[in-house]
Amino acid sequence: MNIINRFHNWRRKQRWNKQYKNGRWENLKKPIEAERYRTIIKFIKAFGTKTPTILDLGCGEGVLNNYLESQLFKSFLGVDFSKVSIDKAQSKHYPKTNFIVADLHTFIPPNKVDVIILNEAFYYVQESEKRKVLDRILAKLNNNGILIVSIFREGHGCWEYFENLEKIDFTIVKTDEEMRYWKIGVFKKP
Ligand SMILES: C[S@@+](CC[C@H](N)C(=O)[O-])C[C@H]1O[C@@H](n2cnc3c(N)ncnc32)[C@H](O)[C@@H]1O
Repeated sequence: MNIINRFHNWRRKQRWNKQYKNGRWENLKKPIEAERYRTIIKFIKAFGTKTPTILDLGCGEGVLNNYLESQLFKSFLGVDFSKVSIDKAQSKHYPKTNFIVADLHTFIPPNKVDVIILNEAFYYVQESEKRKVLDRILAKLNNNGILIVSIFREGHGCWEYFENLEKIDFTIVKTDEEMRYWKIGVFKKP
């Protein structure tokens, strides 16, 4: 990332921290968002290995964990560059779960995992870095592991990055609001 993009990224991080501090993302906990989280969990159950290790990139406050029963997984690592969101997530003390502050642009997962989740996070990765970030992440996905990607509305400029993977499933989660929908895909390494 060049110095200008690094600066923009730093500013974005400050903005996320401020927004988490003033409750801007509380809406993610509303029932209208629930089906997105439930669909991700349905996909883990359907296509993940038994009691998988899970890595959630751009995990925010860990809202997904509110829906996730701890007997479903072996370990869960949530990563986000907003310290405010990670502090909130850690304060919930979810079992078998860790949360760390790290930037997707540079983060190298410590271990290989069975499930990687990009839940409303990939479009925030800078355009010039998307391929590199995805390759780095995929290198840490076990060979029989799955990548679950959720993207708000059409996700222009995002889905093409997943085209060379094996698509296992794909769905559109709709809501009562015409403009609030998510596309969610499940992929394996070819
Ligand atoms: C729309 S929120 C989604 C949060 C969570 N995945 C969920 O659905 O509940 C997007 C998250 O991506 C995080 N994010 C954005 N850019 C990031 C980056 N470069 N590295 C790590 N996290 C990032 C933000 O801090 C924010 O928590």
